[in-house]
Amino acid sequence: MPHISLRQIRIFDSVARYQSHTRAAEKLYMTQPAVSMQMKQLEENLGIDLFERQGRSLALSDSGKKLRIYTNKIIDAFESMIDYVDKIKGCHTGHLTISVATTANHFTTRILSDFSEKYPEITISLDVTNRQSILQQLDNFEPDLVIMGEPPKGHGLKSEKFMTNPLVIIAPPGHKLLQKKKKLTINDLDGEKFVVREKGSGTRECIERYFKKSEKTFTTTLEMTSNEAIKHAVSAGFGLGIVSLHTIELELLNNHLAILDVKGFPLQRYWHLVTRQGKAISPVTEAFRSFLLEKSEEFVIE
Ligand code: PGA
Repeated sequence: MPHISLRQIRIFDSVARYQSHTRAAEKLYMTQPAVSMQMKQLEENLGIDLFERQGRSLALSDSGKKLRIYTNKIIDAFESMIDYVDKIKGCHTGHLTISVATTANHFTTRILSDFSEKYPEITISLDVTNRQSILQQLDNFEPDLVIMGEPPKGHGLKSEKFMTNPLVIIAPPGHKLLQKKKKLTINDLDGEKFVVREKGSGTRECIERYFKKSEKTFTTTLEMTSNEAIKHAVSAGFGLGIVSLHTIELELLNNHLAILDVKGFPLQRYWHLVTRQGKAISPVTEAFRSFLLEKSEEFVIE
């Protein structure tokens, strides 16, 4: 009988999924030569070719595709066995892979730290990235659980709305629009420049929708991938910013930034807990879900 290990099956699955030894190695925290060697050994042990090169990417050969039907079943059975073991142990150990939208990181890390205190044996991988890349990860069945703005329909996702996410317009203290006595309207923003998040961010999508609906355009001075960077740029005078109220708690307290009172704002978004249909919900994932739903009440801002 050929000698094949579960580890080789997992590596095979990852190479098949990402069609690249380099990308599979990144995902598995291995080196690329180690992945190539394992795949060479697997092919030798089985006596069949599993991949064929197509330009710069690797595609499964016909035998590789057939083999994957079996390896999928082996991986599923293995994960179910681990879930079962977790269940009988009371879910105090295991691993949780979470991805959160950049903006959600402001409250997620605090909740995770309390969760780790309660369940010290559970290890956690946290990826903080923007909406677009989270959707890709869900497509690949990667994270156990995701925290993001409302997910799009039709991607095979299950989602649960759990907390408000108000978006506000921020300005440096002393900005001329802060002197106006009356509530501002979108017309008062004519001629203002904005520091905004990158394309692919949920916040950016929401802002673009708002301006389009108001039949206005906005001019950007700077585009940035981090809310922290936006706050610094706004307080340095690069322009106005539109960010989640969750991200500016300290700056408001210290008077480093101020909120403009503009009609139609805050724009109300909601945080959602999202899982991929067909991905098993382990007891550890379920424990984190309940913990998050309970804890998030402390972070609600109306
Ligand atoms: P993001 O936030 O802008 O950090 O991607 C998520 C969202 O509001 O959808």
